[in-house]
Amino acid sequence: MLTLGIETSCDETAVALVEDGRLVAQELASQVDVHAVFGGVVPEIASREHLRVLPVLFRTLMERTGKRPEELDTIAVARGPGLLGALLVGVSFAKTLSLSTGARLTGVNHLWAHLLAPSLERELVFPAVGLLVSGGHTHTYRVDSPVEFELLGRTLDDAAGEAFDKVAKLLNFPYPGGKKLDDLGKEAEPDTALFPKAYVDNNSLDFSFSGLKTAVANYVGKHPELVLERMETSALDKLDAGHRETLAGVCASFNWSVAETLRIKVERALDQVPDAKALVVAGGVAANSMIRGFMSDLARERGVELVLPGFSLCTDNAAMIAAAGDMLARRGMYHDLSLEAVPRGRTVPHDWIVK
Ligand code: KG4
Ligand code: ZN
Repeated sequence: MLTLGIETSCDETAVALVEDGRLVAQELASQVDVHAVFGGVVPEIASREHLRVLPVLFRTLMERTGKRPEELDTIAVARGPGLLGALLVGVSFAKTLSLSTGARLTGVNHLWAHLLAPSLERELVFPAVGLLVSGGHTHTYRVDSPVEFELLGRTLDDAAGEAFDKVAKLLNFPYPGGKKLDDLGKEAEPDTALFPKAYVDNNSLDFSFSGLKTAVANYVGKHPELVLERMETSALDKLDAGHRETLAGVCASFNWSVAETLRIKVERALDQVPDAKALVVAGGVAANSMIRGFMSDLARERGVELVLPGFSLCTDNAAMIAAAGDMLARRGMYHDLSLEAVPRGRTVPHDWIVK
C-alpha cells in the first residue's frame, strides 16, 4: 500500500511516500530563512510559500522515486492543529489529488503524527506515555494504539519550544533560537538554583512555562551585558571568552529548568499509566540534548522502553504524516472531500469514515 504524506501546518513544506509502513523517500523545504527577518513565523507568508513550493516538491518526489500519481492508494494530509491558512494549502492539494487519482483521502492529526513518527525506525509498543514537545504544544498522552490517544496534560500558556524561542529572542539570538541555545548551553554546567522549575508545586499534569520565561526576562533585564549585540549567527561565534562562558551558563540553567520540569510532569504521567511499556518523546524540542538525556534516565529508572525519534523525525516533516496515514488506512479510516482543516487551539475531531 502506497501512501503520500503532505505537511504544511507551519513553516515547513514537505511530502513523503511510505509503502507498507516503510519510508520510500521524502522532500522538505524549510521557510526558516524567509521568516527569520521577522523573528517568527508570519502566517500569510507561510501560506504563500506552501502554495509556491508544494507542487514542485510533489513533482520532484514522484520523479525521484519513479512512482506515478495513479499508483497512490492513500493521500494523508496534516489537517491540524496548525496555522489555518497554511493547513488549507495542504488540505486543498490533497483533496484535488484524491479527486483526480481516485486515491483515498485521510486527514492526520499533526500531534499524533509526531508521536507515531518513530514507527518508521522501530516497532511501537502499547500502552505508552507520549510526551509531545514542539513549538506550539507541550502535551502528555496515554497512547493505547496508533489511533487511541488520551490527553493527560497540556500547555496552559507558552509551549516548551515557544519558551526556548522567546528566551533566545530575549538574548538576541538569531531565529529560531532553540537549537542555538541548546548548543551553547552544552559548554557550561547548569546552575540549578538560577531559574525556577515551571509550575510544578501542584498535582497538575499541565504545563505552564510563562513564569520561567518571565524569570529569565527579569534576569536578563538585570544583566543587559549578556544580550548579543547583533542578531546574527556570526555574533555567537565572535563572543569573547568571558561573555561566552556566562551566556553558556544562563543557557544551560534555563535548559535545565525546562528539562527538569518535563521530567517531573512525565513522571506524574507515568504514575497515571502504571501499565505503560514505553515512553515516547517527540516534536521539535525532543531534539534537545539535555531533554533527551533526562528522558532516557527516567525511562531507565521506571523500567519502560524509551522511544526517541532521530533528529530529522523530531521537527516537522511529511514522513510522520505518511506513516500515521498508512496506519489509519490499514484500519480503513478515511475522510471524504468535506475534510476540514483545524486551527491551533481547537480539538481535532475523530471524524473518520470507517470503510
Ligand atoms: O515540532 P516542530 O518542528 O514544529 C512545531 O510543530 O511546532 O518544533 C519546533 C520547535 C521550535 O520552537 C524550536 O526552537 C524547537 O522546536 N527546537 C528546539 C531544538 N530544536 C528545535 N528546542 C530546544 N532544543 C533544540 N535542540
Ligand atoms: Zn510539529
